[in-house]
Amino acid sequence: MMALAGYPLGIECHLLDTRADSSGGQVAPIRVAELDDLQALEALAREADVITFDIENVSVAALESLQAIVPVHPAPAAVAVAQDRLSEKRLFDSLGIPAAPYVTIDGAADFDEVDTELGWPVVIKARRLGYDGRGQRLVDSAGELAAAWAELGERPAIAEGFVDFDCEVSLIGVSDQSQNLRFYPLTENRHADGMLESSIAPFVNAELQQQAEAWMTAMVRKFHYVGILTIEFFVTPSGLVANEIAPRVHNSGHWTIEGAVSSQFENHLRAILGLPTGATTTRGTIAMRNLIGRMPARAELLAIDGLHMHDYGKSPRPGRKIGHCTMVAADRNSAQASLDTLDRLLGSSTA
Ligand SMILES: Nc1ncnc2c1ncn2[C@@H]1O[C@H](COP(=O)(O)OP(=O)(O)O)[C@@H](O)[C@H]1O
Ligand SMILES: [Mg+2]
Repeated sequence: MMALAGYPLGIECHLLDTRADSSGGQVAPIRVAELDDLQALEALAREADVITFDIENVSVAALESLQAIVPVHPAPAAVAVAQDRLSEKRLFDSLGIPAAPYVTIDGAADFDEVDTELGWPVVIKARRLGYDGRGQRLVDSAGELAAAWAELGERPAIAEGFVDFDCEVSLIGVSDQSQNLRFYPLTENRHADGMLESSIAPFVNAELQQQAEAWMTAMVRKFHYVGILTIEFFVTPSGLVANEIAPRVHNSGHWTIEGAVSSQFENHLRAILGLPTGATTTRGTIAMRNLIGRMPARAELLAIDGLHMHDYGKSPRPGRKIGHCTMVAADRNSAQASLDTLDRLLGSSTA
């Protein structure tokens, strides 16, 4: 999606991924290598004006060494924090951003503290390598903790108090190289099995918008961050509670391709290349629905008037995101109606 956004601007993306048939390779030249293959990365960097990435689990050490060849954005230090849920919690603490209470789990000796500090239920999350709800378990009682942690491979983890939220939102912003920020409006996100299923933007709440923007600004200043940054929040009766950060373009911002004046992908490229960033204003109320595990027939999707379809060309697998749809509507009710129509289709399609 970044390569597609760069194309009309005359920006060429050259990709590196672990598989030749990865989605990006269908639209841009790709070299196949492991993500920590320094030789391959350095060869790529020597051809490039700038290095960036759209997943979190890249090698921070490799990014740091590429900085000797070419600028790397966003800052590897921000990536290092996002890769470790404990560092992320400490970042929230250091910036005064409220987050769910937590206890670090390095061994069974820490279980008592989970019981006394957090109460039940808790969510245990492996500190590293989790995504789309993977690497985490909801635990209802002290007696179930050992088994749940064993399911995570007894990896270093955190236990987090369960947040009884009204809804979930994310803030996506872009920082240019002079640390000037632009923000998209808060996006409301619905998850199924820990994975993003649908989003509606804008989530209109001036107070929460302002609060979230102030926190993101503090984060950008801390890391001299350049590019797109995302913060996920729980909306609770007492305000926003931060969940996690993503130092990259984000699934909850896919709606910006058709729903904002400049998309997150275009703005990320503009920022990291030292170009002026584009307007983040919306073109209406926008609904986004992920296509997970199964691709419906193209004709069925396109029969929904106004629907924009994105097929990533990935082989379908249960629980795998293989595409998404965006619908630009006049208001929230129509956006929700579009999502409902799509839900019925995805539930009933025989494709
Ligand atoms: N402490 C929590 N309380 C309630 N729900 C949670 C909590 N932590 C995670 N979740 C749910 O699980 C989803 C995925 O968790 P998250 O920490 O964002 O991991 P991932 O990296 O997989 O996105 C969240 O969006 C939310 O719906
Ligand atoms: Mg998340």
